[in-house]
Amino acid sequence: MNYQWYPGHMTKAVRMMQEDIKLIDLVIELLDARIPFSSRNPDIDRLAAGKYRLVLLNKSDLADPGANQQWVRYFSEQGAAALLVDARSGAGVKAIENLAQTVCREKLERDRRRGIVNRPIRAMVAGIPNVGKSTLINALAGRACTRTGNKPGVTKGKQWIRVGRTLELLDTPGILWPKFEDQTVGMRLALIGSMNDEILSAEELALDLAGELSRLYPGSVEKRYGLTGEAKGHELLAGIAMARCVLGRGGEPDLPRAAAALTEDFRSGKLGRMTLERPENEHREVM
Ligand code: G4P
Repeated sequence: MNYQWYPGHMTKAVRMMQEDIKLIDLVIELLDARIPFSSRNPDIDRLAAGKYRLVLLNKSDLADPGANQQWVRYFSEQGAAALLVDARSGAGVKAIENLAQTVCREKLERDRRRGIVNRPIRAMVAGIPNVGKSTLINALAGRACTRTGNKPGVTKGKQWIRVGRTLELLDTPGILWPKFEDQTVGMRLALIGSMNDEILSAEELALDLAGELSRLYPGSVEKRYGLTGEAKGHELLAGIAMARCVLGRGGEPDLPRAAAALTEDFRSGKLGRMTLERPENEHREVM
């Protein structure tokens, strides 16, 4: 399957962000802690050039704790401010305001010298679809002030949100980039739900997931569904269908539903806390 998704509203969103970036001091980029490499949008990187940067590894509650530490170390070695966050529970969110101050300290100092005090830092919250931007903004603002939704890529209107006395946030729509040169990147983005599921084959996606997991977390799928042996491909999906009693009218295994169940179990963490990428395996630049 060719993993590609770049609907027209993303082109528009990038154009809008190019305008908005002029108003911004700091770009807060959310990455998915399960795929910190693939969830890094090179277009956001370009847009943010010359701005202060803060990287948040969100959904860290779903990612492998050991890998979380590795990635934080990796980013700090690259000189980037990075923080593990779980926007849904709020873990790590409190530290953001202070870290934003630290990252922007030169600018704040410059402001102070010019007699400008108490001017909040203006930050753009950017990231791929479904990475948790709205959830984070809600957690930061301490109330349900923005819309969240599980449809990746839903365009959201521009809005500034005040956080405490020191930070103002601009919400931006989730964006991907026009072409995934490396299809593994596209596949992993699809696995975490950042691509529109409706354009994907549930079975092919689930089989790609099974391939990733048998390499990185061998036995995890079999354990979850109580399977014995090493079934692969459609046999594996059939095994999951039987284990879950996901059957068609004639009693045959319903492979598309079994596939969707496997992918959903990965996305929601029911297969365990898993990270698909490690800094030492990514030979391309992440920062
Ligand atoms: P977006 O604005 O970047 O598109 O993402 P959004 O905040 O809408 O979050 C997408 C989904 O990810 C939501 O789940 C949200 O609850 C979940 N999420 C966000 N941050 C975290 C996190 O740190 N950890 C975990 N485990 N989940 C997170 P949903 O199923 O679409 O909605 P809901 O059922 O939670 O309301």
